[in-house]
Amino acid sequence: MGAFDSTAFDTHEGVHYFNDPATGLRAIVAIHSTALGPAAGGCRMWSYASDEDALTDALRLSRGMSYKNAVAGLPLGGGKAVILRDPRHPPTPALFEAFGRSVEQLGGRYITAEDVGVSVGDMEAVARSTRYVCGLSQRNDGSAGGDPSPRTARGVFVGLRAAVRTRLGREDLDGLRVAVQGLGHVGMRLCGELHAAGARLAVADLDPEAVAQAGARFGARAVPAERILFEDVDVIAPCALGAVLSQQTIPHLHARIVAGAANNQLATEADGERLLERGILYAPDYVINAGGIINAAAEYLHSMDAAQVDRKVEAIADTLADIFERSRATGVPTHRVADAMARQRLDAAAARAPHRVAA
Ligand code: NAI
Repeated sequence: MGAFDSTAFDTHEGVHYFNDPATGLRAIVAIHSTALGPAAGGCRMWSYASDEDALTDALRLSRGMSYKNAVAGLPLGGGKAVILRDPRHPPTPALFEAFGRSVEQLGGRYITAEDVGVSVGDMEAVARSTRYVCGLSQRNDGSAGGDPSPRTARGVFVGLRAAVRTRLGREDLDGLRVAVQGLGHVGMRLCGELHAAGARLAVADLDPEAVAQAGARFGARAVPAERILFEDVDVIAPCALGAVLSQQTIPHLHARIVAGAANNQLATEADGERLLERGILYAPDYVINAGGIINAAAEYLHSMDAAQVDRKVEAIADTLADIFERSRATGVPTHRVADAMARQRLDAAAARAPHRVAA
C-alpha cells in the first residue's frame, strides 16, 4: 500500500524513504506541514511488523506534531521519522550517521530529535552528519535545551492546576488526591511538584525501586500498576503509556480530571466523547505535554532564553483554560477543540504563505 492510500494519510506535504545498505538503515520521514515553519518531530526506532505499519506510524505521528506545535504557538511545522529496526542490523553509530545524511538531504524542511528507541547519544551521532537536529546534551552556557523532561513535567503541573480550577473550582492543590501512572523522567518530577503543592499522591510503576523512591521522597502511596487508573482520586495523571483511556477503562474511572504527560492517551477518538459524557475533564495530551517541544524549539531556533521558555511553558495553563472554556460553551469534547484550534492555525498560515518551503 502506498502513502496516498493509507487511512493515516491527511494533507501531508511529503513522504521520504531512505535506504543505506552499508549500515542497514531503512527509514521513512513524513512531513505533514511546513506552513508554520520547518517540520519538527522526533525519530522513533521500532521493530515494525510491516513497512505499512511503519508508514502508518510516520503519517499519524507527523500530523500529531503539526497539531502540537501549532497549539503550542511555535514557529514549527510537523514531521516525524521512523527507523525500521532490523534484528540483523543492530543500531550502530554509523547507522545514525547515515540517518543524519538522510535528514541533511531534506535541506532543513525536517528537524529531527530523539523519540522512543533513540537516545541522546544516538542523536549526537546523527548530528555528525546534519545540522537539522536538536535534543542534544545540554551545553553549560545557560542556553535553553538539553533534557526536555523537567519542562514537560512543569507544563503538566500548571496544566493540571488549570484543570482543577475549571472542574473543581479551586485554586490550590492542598489535599488534592492525584494518582500518577509511571514514575519515569516526567512522572517523578511531576510528583515532586504536586507534593510541594500539598497534593496527596498515589503512584504506580513497573519498577518497584521508583515506587519506593516516590514513597520515601513524597509520602506517595503505592498502588498496583493494574489498579492505578481506577483509584478513588480527584485526578489521574497518565505518565507512562498511550491508549490508557478506552471503552474498557473509562467506565471504571473515579477521577474527575485526566491530566498527564503520556502521548496518545485516547485509544480512539470516541474515547474523548466518552470522557465528556462521564463528566471527566480531559486535558488533551499534546497540549499539556508541550513543555518538552517548547524546550527543544528554543534549543534549535535559538529563539528564546531560559526565562522565555519558562514563560511559554507556564502559558500552557492559559491555552488549556481556553480549550476548557470553548468545550464548555459548545459541548464539543476538549480533544476536538484542540484539533480544531490546530487546524485553524495551520490553515491560516498556509493561506498567508501558500508556497512556503521552509529551510
Ligand atoms: P520514561 O520512560 O522515563 O518513564 C515511563 C515510566 O512508566 C517508566 O518508569 C516505566 O517503568 C513506567 N511504566 C511503563 N508501563 C507502565 C505501566 N503499565 N504502569 C505503570 N508504570 C509503567 O518516560 P518519560 O520520559 O517520563 O515520559 C512519560 C510519557 O510522557 C511517555 O508517554 C512519553 O511519550 C510522554 N512524553 C514525554 C516527554 C518528555 O519530555 N520526556 C515529552 C512529551 C511526552
